[in-house]
Parts: sequence; structure tokens; C-alpha cells
Amino acid sequence: MKNLFRALLILVFACASLVPVCAQQANGADRHQWWQDAVFYEVYPRSFADSNNDGVGDLNGIASKLDYLKDLGVDAIWITPCFPSPQVDFGYDVSDYENIDPMYGTLADFDNLVAQAKKRNIRVILDFVVNHTSDQHKWFLDSKSSKTAARRDWYIWRDGKGPGEPPNNWVSDFGGSAWQFDPTTNQYYYHYFARQQPDLNWRNPAVKKAMFDVTRWWYQRGVAGFRLDAVDTLFEDPNLHDNPVVDHEKNEFGDPVEINKYNDKLPEVHDVLRQLRSVADQSDAVLIGETWTSNVAELKQYYGLHNNELQMPMDLMFTKLKFSAPVFREHIRNINAAGGWPVYVISNHDIVRSYDRYGDGQHNDQIAKVMAALYLTLRGTPIMYYGEEIGMKTTPPARKEDVKDPIGRTGWPKEKGRDGERTPMQWNESANAGFTQATPWLPVPPTYKTHNVADESRDPNSILDFYKQLLKLRHTNPALLDGSYTAVNEQDPNVLAYLRTYKDQSVLVALNMSNAPQKVNFDLSPNGFSSATPLVATQASASGHIVSLEPFGVFVGQLTK
Ligand code: NOJ
Repeated sequence: MKNLFRALLILVFACASLVPVCAQQANGADRHQWWQDAVFYEVYPRSFADSNNDGVGDLNGIASKLDYLKDLGVDAIWITPCFPSPQVDFGYDVSDYENIDPMYGTLADFDNLVAQAKKRNIRVILDFVVNHTSDQHKWFLDSKSSKTAARRDWYIWRDGKGPGEPPNNWVSDFGGSAWQFDPTTNQYYYHYFARQQPDLNWRNPAVKKAMFDVTRWWYQRGVAGFRLDAVDTLFEDPNLHDNPVVDHEKNEFGDPVEINKYNDKLPEVHDVLRQLRSVADQSDAVLIGETWTSNVAELKQYYGLHNNELQMPMDLMFTKLKFSAPVFREHIRNINAAGGWPVYVISNHDIVRSYDRYGDGQHNDQIAKVMAALYLTLRGTPIMYYGEEIGMKTTPPARKEDVKDPIGRTGWPKEKGRDGERTPMQWNESANAGFTQATPWLPVPPTYKTHNVADESRDPNSILDFYKQLLKLRHTNPALLDGSYTAVNEQDPNVLAYLRTYKDQSVLVALNMSNAPQKVNFDLSPNGFSSATPLVATQASASGHIVSLEPFGVFVGQLTK
């Protein structure tokens, strides 16, 4: 009994105190929305597939890989910004929200992509850059033209404190002051990110209306939702109080370290999210949040008090955890207790890839399988990042002159930028990994010879094959789709283990997060289970109640009576 029984008791107790969690568990399949059962996949369009051989990926390239994505087990793709843009921040500086950048194709190509995806039951999610536009957007060009321009108040303009002095001490996330002086009107405008990315003034109802209309425009074109960029920073204190500064500390850009008390996570954000959600609900669309939170309580707020804000605020804290069974166990418990539907992410275009973040240099492929098994079998929706499924490695530029990312150019050498996690998708062993026949915009890492789609598709022990097995299971096994989560053997320092249970079906997941073999007794008989039959496993095996795991071994098994 012991561990399992105790876990069940805890769950019953949790049900009494945390109604939303258990309601979700109890409701199961019948109440699931499409995005709860879906597997999402982030495509960085510059780097996925280049159909016209100009060295940069494009929409037709993505369309040509839909069969691959379908076969992999992907239900929705999130495409990072593909709108017209000067590309200062590689698309996160949008100069027209209702078009496609010619480097990626045309609106007709986009419509074709949506139609082709639909044929395969894959939905398309766009990236909505809500916090700021490009400084080349017509709204900003008008805004900066004079103090009385029709759209002057669409951005945040203020006088300096004195000659040459910005309005306050806020620093930009991309280095330097967050204020840019503009000589046309002798005022400063505010930019949380690069100076070419002026912040929109969300206190202006006209801005809200224009942005809500953008979402409607895309919903009508068949988009199934948005990933909302930088939602944390939508609002600023109108009185522009200085942020508190951490004494004697400098960040990677040499700026003072600030606590973003007055320009991050202001309560007004939630009003906008509720309104965006009510527009989304009219199209059965999903809103995914780029929600950088430092604790679960903060993340919880993004679901909304009545689950009426973001359906899918990303748990980006997950990307910061140490590779350790107790650390993940504790975090998953807290996330489940928060009451919303969890959204797990292990990599994206802004952070070091999970392959090398968790890899120990010796067992990286095995560790990649542990991480895959973890976030693809948890209760919640996973968002994959392109290349993760083949074990792509972060490969930063070796020299400053090769850096493309603006933060790498400003922050070098302390901050090398994000090029390393944005390198071209490794399709095969041919030149440029089959991504392009031209010179790719970022070099293809040497690992394309060992980690690529074509070779891994033929290898039953590859990371890719393991992802496919897990994704297939996830789509077909009721306990993995709809089951509750119950931690087991909670004192084990090495093996993270849990049950997913739906009605009379239970799946046991056991992940060895150590580099030593482990034999674990799961003591399942009190629940009527005599053994576990492997569904997806590395070399791990089960005999009665004992599961044997090799170093970094994975066992996912159906419990049998
Ligand atoms: C978050 C995006 O993920 C990142 O790539 C971008 O630089 C900033 N937002 C600014 O838009």
C-alpha cells in the first residue's frame, strides 16, 4: 500500500480543497477542448524549410513538411512572426499585422498552408506581437510625425526629465535605456525591447480596437489561435515611477539590474486578456501566453479568475528547472495544484535548447528521451520546438561578427544571443542538412551528420523514433489523454514516477534522472495491479512490481491486474 495508497489519499484531500484541478480530472475526455488533447509544435519559419532556395525558410517550405509533422504526431503548429517586418528582431518587429513578409511568401501561400494543414487535421497558430510594433509600422510613422498626429497617443511619448535625460530609469530588455529620444518632436518614446520596437499604448481604446480587429481578421482566414508575445509587459505605470534598482549589480549589457515593478505584470493586462479571450471564443480559438513568471501563483493569474483569460499560459519556469527528480516532482505538484490546464515547454527560440541544457555531455541522447517522456506524458498540453525531436543542439556563433541576433550583437561576449537555438532544421545528411540549396541565413551545425530526420527515421533507437512512439501513445491511450496525475514513490531521489489514471486504466511512468541503474519497487498490488506491461521504454523492463531502469532509462507501462 504505503506509497501508492498515500498518494491516493493526498489526491482525495487535494480534490476537496482544489476544486478546479479535480473537476478537470474527473471531467475527462467528454469535457476536453481541442487544445487540451493537441500537441503543439513551434516552427521558426526562417529556419524550418526553404522552398525557394534563398537561404531563408518560408511558408511553402513549411507546407512541404506537413506530412512529416503529421507522421510525427503534431496537431497544431505555432509559426513565429511571418508578417512584414524590417527583421531587426527577426519578425518580432511587425510593420503590418495583416500581411505576410515577402521573404516568407504571400497571403495566398498562407491560405494554402492553412488549407493543406486542415486536410491533415493540423491547426495553424500565429504569433501576435501585442506589446509593440516596428518603428516602421504606419501607426508609428504617423505617431512620431508630430505631437498632434492622429496616432500620437498610440505609443508612449514623454518629455525627458531634463536635457539629455530620459523620463525615468527604466532599462530595455535589449540593453540601454528603455527611452529613445526623437528629435522630430523633442520627446522620448518608450520601448521595452529594441529601440526599433516602440511599445503600443494599450490605455488608448483605439489601440485596443485596432489590435482586436487584427485577431478577427486572422480568425476569418482560418487561424486557430495566437501565441501572445510579451504579454507581461503590455502596460506601464502612467506616472512613470523609477524602478527599484538592485545595488551594485549590472546585467549582461552592463546596465543596472532593476526590479520591473512599474513596467511588468501590471493588473491592467488581465482586462485586455479577458477581452481578447472573448473575441477568441467566438472562433473556438486558443490563446497561448508567453508568460515569464517566477512562481506558480503568478502563472495562475494568467488563466483568469474564472478561466476567462489565457487557456494556455506557458509554464516557462519548467525550462529553468534543474535536471533532478525531486525538483521536477515538486514543480509538477505545484502546477497541478494551481488549477489551470498545464502547458509544458522545454525549449523555444529564446532559450538554450533542452538537448544541451540538460545533457551531461555523455548521455545527451538518453537525457533527451527522458525529457521527451516527461513532458509528453504529463497531464497538460506540450509545446514542442522544432528540432527537439531529433536532438538538435544549441550552436552559438564563434565570433561576434557572425552574430545575427540584436541582443547578441549588443551583449557580446557575455550575451551571445539566440542564434544558437535558431539554426536550420536538420533534415538529412546532404549539403546544408537539406534545409536549402543556397547559403543558409545561419550556418548548419556540424551535428547534422549524426542528428537528422532522414537517418533518425530509419533508426529504431533514435530520439525521433522515441518521440513518435510517445506521441502515438499519447494520442491513443485514454489515461495519457485524459487521466489524472498522481505522483508515486515521492521520496525517490533518482526516479521521477507517476500514474496517469482514467476510469479503470492506469499508466505508470518511471524516469531515471540519474546516471546509475535503478531498480524500483512500485508496490502496486493494493490497487489490484499485478504488473506493468511496457508501452514505450528504453532498455527498461518490469517484472512484477519491480521496474529496472538503466542510467537515464524510461519506462512507460500499462498497469495490468
Ligand atoms: C519574445 C520573443 O519570443 C522574442 O524572440 C522577442 O525578441 C521578444 N519577445 C520581443 O518581441
